[in-house]
Amino acid sequence: MQVIQVTDPALIAEASRSKELDRTNPGNRALSIFAGPHGYPTLLTGPSDARWRVVRKSVASAFNTSNMKAQFPNIRLACGQLIDILKSLKGDAAVDMDSALCRESLDVIGRVGFGRDLGATRSLTEGDGPGQAMAATTAALLEAEQTLLDPLRHYKIWRKDVREGTAATKAFHKVMQSLVDTMRSETPDPSSIAAHLLDIKDPSTGKPLEDKRLLPEVSTLFMAGFETTGHTAAWVLFAVSQHPEVEAKIVKELRSLDLLAGPQAAVPRPIEWDDIPQLVYLTATIKACFSFLCIETMRLYPVAGGATFRHSKSGKDVALRGGKFILPGGVDLHMSVAAIHHAKDIWKDPYSFKPERFLEDGAEDAKDVPLVNGRKPQRFMPFSQGSRDCVGQTLARLNLSTTLAQLYGNFSFQLAPEMGGAQGVEASRRTAITLSCAKGMLMNIRPRVK
Ligand code: HEM
Repeated sequence: MQVIQVTDPALIAEASRSKELDRTNPGNRALSIFAGPHGYPTLLTGPSDARWRVVRKSVASAFNTSNMKAQFPNIRLACGQLIDILKSLKGDAAVDMDSALCRESLDVIGRVGFGRDLGATRSLTEGDGPGQAMAATTAALLEAEQTLLDPLRHYKIWRKDVREGTAATKAFHKVMQSLVDTMRSETPDPSSIAAHLLDIKDPSTGKPLEDKRLLPEVSTLFMAGFETTGHTAAWVLFAVSQHPEVEAKIVKELRSLDLLAGPQAAVPRPIEWDDIPQLVYLTATIKACFSFLCIETMRLYPVAGGATFRHSKSGKDVALRGGKFILPGGVDLHMSVAAIHHAKDIWKDPYSFKPERFLEDGAEDAKDVPLVNGRKPQRFMPFSQGSRDCVGQTLARLNLSTTLAQLYGNFSFQLAPEMGGAQGVEASRRTAITLSCAKGMLMNIRPRVK
């Protein structure tokens, strides 16, 4: 397999929207096997064909603003559960906030998408029993990662770890099947993802999706959404723990909105939908309700940094940038988010954490680059761009903003000594399907009111 990696923002802007190119990914097969027992392609792993178009349209509509507003109480509920658990912990032992936040993100997708409490956050203290959603999903994802590294892994059935991985994938499919059964037996809330998935007409039959096609789409939303959001939130906690001046600004902002626990109120008032745009530092209105803090964290630690690949649909060479760049047929174009976010010719001081760099208007646009189809090419693209960008980004943004506001409203987080300081964290960056810290993110948690 031949791959060309590019970081030119104008080229990426054009390639992401080119009708002659399609999304591809060397790992699609492994991810499709993870998603369902038949290995059918899904919204994430399939080509941009008629099936992808109908699924994408329906799922995108599930994530529109009015549905997200209707589902906001569910996000707050999942976060509230995490806060209650953190408050109930006795002693000074450090907590793995990466695991905690991945759990909370999984529960958010379960509640917002399917009206079910999957108990992932609860099992932080109760333990993950076999067949429990968190245990099943992480074990199956680990197997998908192993299959990405070794595409022939499936055939090596004499190996114990391969047999265990296959069993883990089956256990995960069982959890997903139970969600599909609930979707079919109960009438889902019209603002849920479940209701939107049930409305899809399969383009090959004209009928609603059968289980063999529906289940992989459900799995894909969990796979694409829970670790990405959870790891991002954990990277935010890490970055802020290294920059007390940033935490001071968050505290000031939360206090001004009565969202900070303190002598006047041991429990801050619950966050509301209308608060999100008021969080000017944590959540910047001009950046479509997303925080400078989160933006800078996603630039420095892009959890889906390995995405995005494109290939020529016809197999013939494709000319881009007016013929200045030719993508040979059969060669993959890799537009690595991490490489773009860290390129020295694109960002000043790219390895420093500076949320303020995004205070400048248009900071996510590339500088001194010609317009592409009338638009400014972007240099910040944690959710990719073009027709195959992240369909769940509204939920990710909303969950991050709500969760971080509530977490910082109640607690302060210090990196636990076991992590070996910032250097220990950086040295343990682990890039698999997503970017995380191999040691987790152990934090000492200090309640704002004892
Ligand atoms: C901080 C959190 C997230 C990040 C950084 C992120 C990032 C990305 C990126 C970079 C892609 C493009 C992948 C590629 O081209 O290979 C993508 C696609 C996708 N994401 Fe996300 N994502 C996040 C959260 C979510 C959530 C919460 C969901 C749903 C619950 C979701 C669902 C999807 C799906 C289904 C696709 C495939 C869309 C398509 O190809 O049409 N993501 N995401």
